[in-house]
Amino acid sequence: MLKSKDLLGLQYLSAEEIGEILDGAVETKKFLKGDRKSTDVLKGRTLVTLFYENSTRTRTSFELAGKYLGANEVNISVATSSVQKGETLIDTGETLDSLKIDFIAIRHPMAGAPALLAKHVRASVINGGDGMHEHPTQALLDMFTLKEHFGKIRGLKVAIMGDIKHSRVALSNLFGLRKLGAEVYMYAPGTMIPKDIEKLGAHIARSREEAIEGADAVMGLRIQLERMNGGLFPSLGEYAKYYGVNADCFKYAKPDAIILHPGPVNRGVELTPALIDGNSSYILEQVTNGLAVRMSILKLLAEYREKNL
Ligand code: CP
Repeated sequence: MLKSKDLLGLQYLSAEEIGEILDGAVETKKFLKGDRKSTDVLKGRTLVTLFYENSTRTRTSFELAGKYLGANEVNISVATSSVQKGETLIDTGETLDSLKIDFIAIRHPMAGAPALLAKHVRASVINGGDGMHEHPTQALLDMFTLKEHFGKIRGLKVAIMGDIKHSRVALSNLFGLRKLGAEVYMYAPGTMIPKDIEKLGAHIARSREEAIEGADAVMGLRIQLERMNGGLFPSLGEYAKYYGVNADCFKYAKPDAIILHPGPVNRGVELTPALIDGNSSYILEQVTNGLAVRMSILKLLAEYREKNL
């Protein structure tokens, strides 16, 4: 049983709650493999997706998760909503609450926006990515992918490579993987390593090879060009050469190691196309797993709501 009406970040979830979401996703993934993807578990419930930033995977999988579970599903296009007339986040939330909805999946460029919204609405708020803070459902699907492949998370070595500083995926994975007993190594240009991240349990590697040596999984991160003011590395070409993951450095990982990436990928920058499309790549499996994990989250939050609200 989750302990909150909202899912705001892995910082706030216990290892038991994370385990419950991952166990639930085992069941929802079985359901997704069936011929008819339809159930009435969330019949009569309504999910709103409220995305202030672009998304393909997260928004689509929330929408499908709601539909497959039998919920009503509404997408608010921020570009054509009253947000453009200056409506505040809280006013938008309270307006949605008045429409008696149950879940809001939100993505927002400001860190903390989902938490602010959650305080003002009765609906369950699910963080679909907030600024450079957290992207909990992404990290949960990454962990699910690891657990499905390796049968465990405890003791795995996961190398997270690239733009750590601007990445909400990196932070959520660090919280979640540490809580479940994995070792997290990070490697990036010094300008892309947040100050004090080691205090959260990350090992900062001094070379690409040190990060990848003996790793079970290597996670490439997208260069977040939209969050940078420039000047963090000389050029994309040099970044790819010295910090990108290619076949030569991937050889340092364990023989059965897998490649992960939250997507969208800058092909040839953080990962070479050969790795993205190769046999070790689980990038598209991650997308499928994102649907299973988001279905599990909606089911667990619905249970919480039935018992507590
Ligand atoms: N991984 C991820 O958040 O992808 P989208 O931006 O497409 O949702």
